Amino acid sequence: MKTISNIVDLQNELFEAHKEGKEIGLVPTMGALHEGHASLIRRSVKENAVTVVSVFLNPTQFNDKGDLERYPRTLDADCKLIEDCGADICFAPSVKDIYPEPDNRHFEFPPQTTVMEGAHRPGHFNGVCQVVSRLFYIVKPTKAYFGEKDWQQIAVVKRLVKYIGMDKKLKIVECPTIREDDGLAKSSRNTLLTPEERQIAPKIYAELKASVDYAKEHTVQETHDKVVADLNAVDGLDVEYFEIVDGNTLLDVPSWEASPYIVGCITVNCGHTPIRLIDHITYKK
Ligand code: PAF
Repeated sequence: MKTISNIVDLQNELFEAHKEGKEIGLVPTMGALHEGHASLIRRSVKENAVTVVSVFLNPTQFNDKGDLERYPRTLDADCKLIEDCGADICFAPSVKDIYPEPDNRHFEFPPQTTVMEGAHRPGHFNGVCQVVSRLFYIVKPTKAYFGEKDWQQIAVVKRLVKYIGMDKKLKIVECPTIREDDGLAKSSRNTLLTPEERQIAPKIYAELKASVDYAKEHTVQETHDKVVADLNAVDGLDVEYFEIVDGNTLLDVPSWEASPYIVGCITVNCGHTPIRLIDHITYKK
C-alpha cells in the first residue's frame, strides 16, 4: 500500500488505471478508522481493481469548533488498518492540498440538506459536499463507498453526484451499519465516550429496535413521543431530534400509510461534553 499526500502524485499513480479503464473504488473517511470503515474498504477491494482510501479531517463540515478539536486523530493506526484491509492507496492530503484557497462554493439540496442534521448543524452538508466533490474530481472513482450509519449523508451525496454530472460514471455504494455486540453503531466518536457514557449509549439502538414493534400498534406521533420520552428518561442521554421520515424525501410522515418507505432518524447527546451519537431504524421498506 502507498501513502500519498499530494494530489499530483495521486493522479500520477492512478493514471494507468484510468487509461486502462480499470474500476477504481474510493472510500472517503475522516480517519479514526474502525470496523465500520474496514467493512467499506474490504468491499471496495473486492469490487475494484484499485482502492483508494482518503483520510482527511474536513474542517468545513464542522460547525462546532470543539467537535473538530476533539475529533480523534490516529493516522498511523489508520494506515495500518487500510493496508490490512488490502487497499492500494491511502490518500492523506493536508487542508492546503484540498483547499488551496477558501472553498466558496455553496451546495444546497433541499430537503435532503435542510432537515435533521442539516437543520441542527448549519453548514455541515455544505462542507461534506465541498470535500466529497473535491475528492470525486481528484480521484475520478467508478464507485464510492459510504456507511448507512450516516444515512442522511448518503441521500445528500446522491443529490450531489447528480448535480455535478457524475451520476452516469460513478456509483454510490451504500454499506450496512456495523454495530458493537451491544448494538451501539460503530463510530469514531465512540472512543470519546467515558466508560459510564459507553454503558448507556447502547440504549439508543435498543430503544429504536423496540419501537419497531411498538409502531405496529401505535401512530407515528405516539411512536415518536415514546422513543423521545424513554431516552430522555435515561440519565446522561438527551435527544436532540428524532424524526420519522419518508425514506426518499426525508420529510416527516403524518402516518404509517403515508409512504412505503419509512425511517426513524435520531441524534442523541450523550454525557456532559456531550458526544453526539446518530442512528436510524427502518420501519417500512
Ligand atoms: O462520513 C464521513 O466520515 C465524512 O462526512 C466524509 C464523507 C468522509 C466527508 O468528510
